[in-house]
Amino acid sequence: ATADIGVYGMGVMGSNLARNLARNGYRTAVGNRSVERTADFMGKHGEEAVFVPSHNMAEFISSLEPPRVGIIMVQAGAATDAVMESMAEHMEAGDIIVDCGNSLFSDTVRREAWCSARGLHFVGAGVSGGEEGALWGPSIMPGGTPESYDRLGPMFEAISAKVDGEPCCTHVGTDGAGHFVKMVHNGIEYADMQVIAEAYDLLKQRLGLSAGEIAEIFAAWNETELGSYLIEITAEVLRQVDAETGTPLVDLIVDRASQKGTGKWTVQNALDLAVPVTAIAEATMARGASSATEQRQAARTFAGHTANDEITNKEAFIEDVRQALYASKIVAYSQGFDQITEAAKTYGWDINRANVARIWRGGCIIRAVFLGDITEAYERNSELPLLMADENFAAKIDAAVPAWRRVVADAVLHGVPTPVFSSSLVYFDMLRAKRLPAALIQGQRDFFGAHTYQRTDKEGTFHTFWAEPGRPEEEA
Ligand code: 6PG
Repeated sequence: ATADIGVYGMGVMGSNLARNLARNGYRTAVGNRSVERTADFMGKHGEEAVFVPSHNMAEFISSLEPPRVGIIMVQAGAATDAVMESMAEHMEAGDIIVDCGNSLFSDTVRREAWCSARGLHFVGAGVSGGEEGALWGPSIMPGGTPESYDRLGPMFEAISAKVDGEPCCTHVGTDGAGHFVKMVHNGIEYADMQVIAEAYDLLKQRLGLSAGEIAEIFAAWNETELGSYLIEITAEVLRQVDAETGTPLVDLIVDRASQKGTGKWTVQNALDLAVPVTAIAEATMARGASSATEQRQAARTFAGHTANDEITNKEAFIEDVRQALYASKIVAYSQGFDQITEAAKTYGWDINRANVARIWRGGCIIRAVFLGDITEAYERNSELPLLMADENFAAKIDAAVPAWRRVVADAVLHGVPTPVFSSSLVYFDMLRAKRLPAALIQGQRDFFGAHTYQRTDKEGTFHTFWAEPGRPEEEA
């Protein structure tokens, strides 16, 4: 055995993870179902550091020092199962199989049980940061047993991104916790991208600014509390000019956003857990709406009856939009952390939320200045019931609310669709309401289905004979 760790799956992500490990001094075994890929990798990168190529799984596994660590980096789903089973066949008790793909956390829970019945460890690790991240330092979210982390953790921490000297990798929790947290990361990523897109659309439609002008606004915002990778790349995307036509490229891109499914999974799971992640859900639905080509075509004929006054104070409007973006972003993250909190309770994971925010400060797609503030919020109070109610965020939301209302009202009046700005404000108003019309819903449910209700003035569960005035309500 000559390798410290192995990566199976020589796609771009697998190759880059392997190169990152090897650059950090770990002798890295590499393998792939079709051996040409491995040969190709060795041809391109074999001289960079110490790689141990293999022709088949048996050779791949036998090149690893025990307890063996084999990373799977193939397409999530059936391919992952196939590679896991073949790895397991050649491994021995105590060895560790690591899945770094974007796997569904419930698959990870199943795979962990399958491996543990064979005396093996299975670690589902979320890896964020795209191709560049995998090569130069991603954010890594491993689940699995604490024992497996003892062996794997130091290597993952070494190759992860660093912020203030701290690695963007921590043991998130047992079995599927790592992949769950990565899934919510992606849901938040969808919401974050959508709020940025809404801000862009408002600046474009209400101020008539060009892509290049909006790029400068985002570049300036990147120097504020909004400073983040997504804001930074937004400025770059908006700056890009098509060489052929001289038109901003964004104006030539078809306006239908697609997805590979992690946002959808986040929303599906949020419904299972009954956690209102309205920002993530609206962002996911917005991608769906953009892709609803026939319906969009059919709706073209509507007169929107929109107001047509122009913004007079442009600078003030730009600042309002920035604040609305910031407030909506706080809501999105607050909801995402609610989902993680509820999942931890439901699935029995001990997840330290400050650590989750800490490892998202660098390496990953949602990396941002803001995540340092979230880390501090959970450090101030590890039992925080609502992230947006943390003293720092509460003050910021409070300061942003007037601007947020102005922007949403303006968008509604002028027919600019802002699903996440608007629904986040609605969510904020729902949470702070002293009383919600849910009382009426309970009355309606009891009326037609005897679904019962609770009262504010006495204990118990009640049913009313609504159609028979005078007949006393009953305790159910
Ligand atoms: C990351 C990204 C990455 C990918 C997602 C989202 O953290 O590095 O989230 O995992 O971009 O799969 O892709 P879609 O937008 O296609 O769903």
